[in-house]
Amino acid sequence: MAKPIVLEAPAKLNLYLRVTGRRDDGYHELESLVAFAGFHDVLRMEPADTLKVTVDGPFADALTDPEDNLVAKAARHLAAELGEKPAVRIHITKDIPVAAGLGGGSADAAATLLGLCDLWSVDRSQVDLASIGSRLGADVPVCLFGRPAVMTGVGEKVRGVPTLPEAGLLLVNPGVMIATPDVFGARSGGFSRPLGCPDRIGGLRGLADLLRAGGNDLLGSAVSICPEIGVIVERLADLPGCRYAGMSGSGATCFGLFDDEGAAQRAAEEITHNGWWFMPTSLRSHGPFERQVAPAEEGGVRRPQGR
Ligand code: C5P
Repeated sequence: MAKPIVLEAPAKLNLYLRVTGRRDDGYHELESLVAFAGFHDVLRMEPADTLKVTVDGPFADALTDPEDNLVAKAARHLAAELGEKPAVRIHITKDIPVAAGLGGGSADAAATLLGLCDLWSVDRSQVDLASIGSRLGADVPVCLFGRPAVMTGVGEKVRGVPTLPEAGLLLVNPGVMIATPDVFGARSGGFSRPLGCPDRIGGLRGLADLLRAGGNDLLGSAVSICPEIGVIVERLADLPGCRYAGMSGSGATCFGLFDDEGAAQRAAEEITHNGWWFMPTSLRSHGPFERQVAPAEEGGVRRPQGR
């Protein structure tokens, strides 16, 4: 019997996000610099007779039907591609807020695809995981890629960027779930020109300048749906040591960029607020990151890498 696979599924951050066009099918074309945060969901996959998905963790309740979420869909898609049955039990520990602009569902789906390839001994050159991923959701291909990247198209085109500077992050969410289609739907005005993320970003100051230039074209419509987002971005920007404050994806999670995790932690102590969710963490500046959960936690698991 194959050993269980236990993988991290790190939260995704859109450090900048420009809406550059709209396709005939309604999907929006984007240019977004994406990186991953130092906190994650955990997925445990083990052989079973049929597909079974269970969830625990602080945000488990937000997944009302685990058997019908992106993880289950990822398992079914991969199994169908292989002409097999999705015979696996998957347990998700949900630490990433749901519908929060952090790509939690996409990160989980990407980890599922990678983990199942390992569990089922799939030859990765025989399956196009990125293509399966892009059918599951616009953020899945970049989550499979698993290192800082610029994504374009509707998310299916992913280009790696050089190592980003080391940085701390303070993530803050007002405790409100926002549906991505609502935010795109509330958007008005024209489209942005792509920024063409440079190959040399430089230090933290260079990154902050780049993010200021890039912005997030969904911020205005997200604030129109949830005005607290505007308050959070302002509060973050005013914190000592904050180099840049913005919103990830379609919100509602906002982030402040700091010199290191310690600075982010100290800043978090200054803006305690009832009902807001806080996560001081760090930027995963390079990759592919290690997804395997430490053997001490989960006994001798194998070690799949990012694509
Ligand atoms: O692909 P995903 O499920 O993440 O997208 C959710 C919704 O967000 C889509 O149905 C679409 O309304 C909107 N979206 C978009 N353009 C993108 C990504 C998402 O319009 N590039």
